[in-house]
This record gives sequence, structure tokens and C-alpha cells, in this order.
Amino acid sequence: MNVVCVGSGYVGSVTAAALAMVGHATTVIDVDLHKVNCINAGKSPIFEPGLDSLIQHKAGTSLKASVSFHDVHDADVVFICVGTPSLTDGTADLRFVKAAARSIGENLNAERFTVIVNKSTVPVGTAELVAMILEEASGLKSEEQFAVISNPEFLREGFALEDIFFPDRIVIGTLNLKARTIMRELYRPIVEQLVDDGKIWDILPNEHNTKRQKTVYFETDAKSAELIKYASNAFLAVKISYINEIARLSEALGSNVSDIAKGMGLDSRIGEKFLQVSSGWSGSCFPKDTGELLATSQKYGEELSIVKAAVESNQRMYQFCIHKIQQKLKSLNGKTIGILGLTFKPDTDDARQTQAIPIIHKLLQFGARIKVHDPKGMNMFQTLHGELPVYFCNHAEETADRANALILLTHWKDYRQLDWKRMYDSMKNPYILDTRNFLPATELRDIGFDYEGIGTS
Ligand code: UDX
Repeated sequence: MNVVCVGSGYVGSVTAAALAMVGHATTVIDVDLHKVNCINAGKSPIFEPGLDSLIQHKAGTSLKASVSFHDVHDADVVFICVGTPSLTDGTADLRFVKAAARSIGENLNAERFTVIVNKSTVPVGTAELVAMILEEASGLKSEEQFAVISNPEFLREGFALEDIFFPDRIVIGTLNLKARTIMRELYRPIVEQLVDDGKIWDILPNEHNTKRQKTVYFETDAKSAELIKYASNAFLAVKISYINEIARLSEALGSNVSDIAKGMGLDSRIGEKFLQVSSGWSGSCFPKDTGELLATSQKYGEELSIVKAAVESNQRMYQFCIHKIQQKLKSLNGKTIGILGLTFKPDTDDARQTQAIPIIHKLLQFGARIKVHDPKGMNMFQTLHGELPVYFCNHAEETADRANALILLTHWKDYRQLDWKRMYDSMKNPYILDTRNFLPATELRDIGFDYEGIGTS
């Protein structure tokens, strides 16, 4: 099939590369010539494990990129994968979606039924809005000459290739039968796992080669599909906020939250996933999606008190971490604090909406001096938050030099293998707060560290 993905950001690049990999002739369209050149040269415009090899493998054959919308004319399916950032009131900014829809409309082909897919996370009702823009721009009739459908993405950064080739579910939101037939054909290789197994496993990073469950292909109407995305992400955010609250209680009681999470997760109705404590959930999805869901519910006069509470509880989580350090160091004024991890989770360079920001802001407010390290996220952090007076360390071990405390925010695998003895020797005060309960606690305590996790005694 002929496929177009508008937008070469995170979702667009991954979707396009995967569809090219399973045999569809795919064009990525972006206004950014640098990204277009990058893909055509066989490189990924974003960091995601395995994506570079995938693009390299397909660039010039079934995958190409362009700044022109010309290929929309011959497309069977056009994905809209542009950004939907949050406006100040929490609602999604649809500027880029609308602009993409107009350009697609101007290039639609009257002789060919085209499916336009909202892949970006968009507010409920956006499929209808995009259909109106397309009708206006093309002069064609929605549902007859084209159809706009919802097919939300469920990609986790860092595991996007695993999630796109072996998803739990593919949700298709449309009642249009022609569109449903085309989408079934498009996703058939993935649903039936007809992809050339060897090739994909060769390309996926080893540690991600674990998931091989059957994909459920689920069809519904557009609005329900749109809401499935928001409801899912908000549910996951609630789950993390919940375990983080239990962690705070567990700490007060002197019990062990890791064991509590494990014991809870053994109930298949609860499940073991997303019960990992942290300084709070962050990233480009959960804050945005919970914000949009709350704004939508308010608009329709419904209060989603559980989601609201999860967001508030998440704010309290970073304050809880700051409080722990304050209790330990008494005054933070003039103290040096090393921070390990700036990205919102490991295996990504994404440092946009990371929990590190409010934590660093607060520590600076209290007069602390901050040294930071991240294996992949320092460039983005520096570009986006350059106003923050922090010292960037080239090596993780440097964060410990003359530090009064270390805080682990992101559980990068490499942090387990640091030269902890050397770090201990170089610290003024060997205190570590491990907000992910991830480091080898016993080993660190044996070295002499004053090690604290979250929710454990
Ligand atoms: C999320 C959804 O998981 C994905 O399905 C969706 O389509 C996009 O949004 P992502 O934002 O990449 O993916 O990250 P995710 O792995 O879900 O983590 C989100 C945040 O929650 C991170 O800050 C992570 O560190 C935190 N988290 C996650 C926890 O604190 N504890 C957990 O147990 C799991």
C-alpha cells in the first residue's frame, strides 16, 4: 500500500519506519528540511533504540522523506503525526493538526478513496474537525471520497519498536466500512506477525526482545478511540500516583514498598506493571494527556476527581523527595547536590517535561548548587532549560565530587555499574536518595553510603 506520514517527530518516524519495514511504500512529510534530509540519508531524526538501523535498512527503498505533500495524491492511507503541545489552560494546541489537514486536503485525489488517520493524541471530536477542514480544502465529500479515522498511538519512548511491531492492541476508530477494510489490510502484517521475524529481531535492541503476545485488533467509533487513548494514559498515571502514595505511607510505617508492589502485582487483576516508585511521572504524554482529559471533562460538566487527585498527588511526590533531602542535610543553602538522570525515564534523550525540572528549581530556590549528569538527555536539557544555573558533568561519577548529596532521578542501567567506591571517597557527605529504588542498596551501604530509597526503611 502507499502510505504517507505527516510529521517526522517521535510518532511519525517510528510509524513510518515500521510500515516501510512490513512492506508498505512509505513517505514521511515534514516542513523541516533537516529532518527530511536526515531520513533520506538513512538516519533517524530522533533518538530511539533501534530506529537508526531500521531507517538505514529501508531508506531509499520503501522509505523516503519529502517537504512536499505531493505523495498524498497517490496515498491509500495518510497518517497525521504532528505535535499537539499543551496550551496554558491544559487543552491541546491543534495548530499543527489543522495546518497538516489543510495541506493534505489540497492534495487529495478525487479518484482514490483515502483514509486520513489521526495518530497524534488529539481531543475527542478531532476526527470530525479534521474531516471538515479536508472537505473545505479538497472540495471532496467526507465518508464517500475519504474518511478521517482515529488510530491512537501507544508507543512508549525507549520501547517504541517493540510496541509498534508487537502491540497489545491496535485501536481503529471509524464506522466507515471502506476505511475499516483498508486499515485491516494495512495492519495485517503486524496483526498476523507476518513481518520477517529475523530481520526485526536483529534490529530491535536485545533487552527489548521480550514481548511476543498476540495483538488484539479492535474496531470502534472515532470518539471512543480518541477517548481510549486519554483514558489509558490517565489510568496509568493514576496507577503510578497510587503506588507512590502507598510508598509514602509504607515509609512512615517502616514497610517495604517494592515488596508491597510485587505482592499487589501478583493479583492478575492488578498486574505488576506501572507499580515502580519514582519522584513522580513526567514526560511528554502523561502531563499533557491528563491535562487535556481534565479540561475536556470540565467542558462537559463532569468532574474526573480521580485523575485530578492523581495529578495533585504527583506534585506532592517531588516535594516529598525534596523534604527527604532537607531532613537529611538540614539547610540546603550552599550545599552541593549531584543529580543522576535528567530524562523522564531511561532509554530516551527526552528531557522536555521531566520531573527533574521542578526538583532542580526547588533545590536552587533553597540555595543549593546543582551538578547534573544524564547519558543521553544533557543536550536537550541544556537547549531547553539553559537558564537553569546547573553544572553539566561529562561523567556520572563527577556528580559526586565534593557533593553533600546525590539524587538518582532516572534509572539508567549504566548507573548501577558506576565506580561507587570512588564516588563515596569524593563526596563531602555520602548521602544518596534513590527515587527509583534501583541502585544496589546493600552494596552501597557496605561501602559506607547513607543510602535511602523511597517507601522502604
Ligand atoms: C506513555 C504510555 O505508556 C504510552 O502507551 C503512550 O502512548 C505514550 O505515553 P511514555 O510517556 O513514553 O509512554 O512513558 P512511560 O513508560 O509510560 O512512563 C511515563 C512516566 O511514568 C515516566 O516518567 C516514567 O518514569 C514514569 N513511571 C512509569 C513510573 O514512575 N513508574 C512506573 O511504574 C512506570
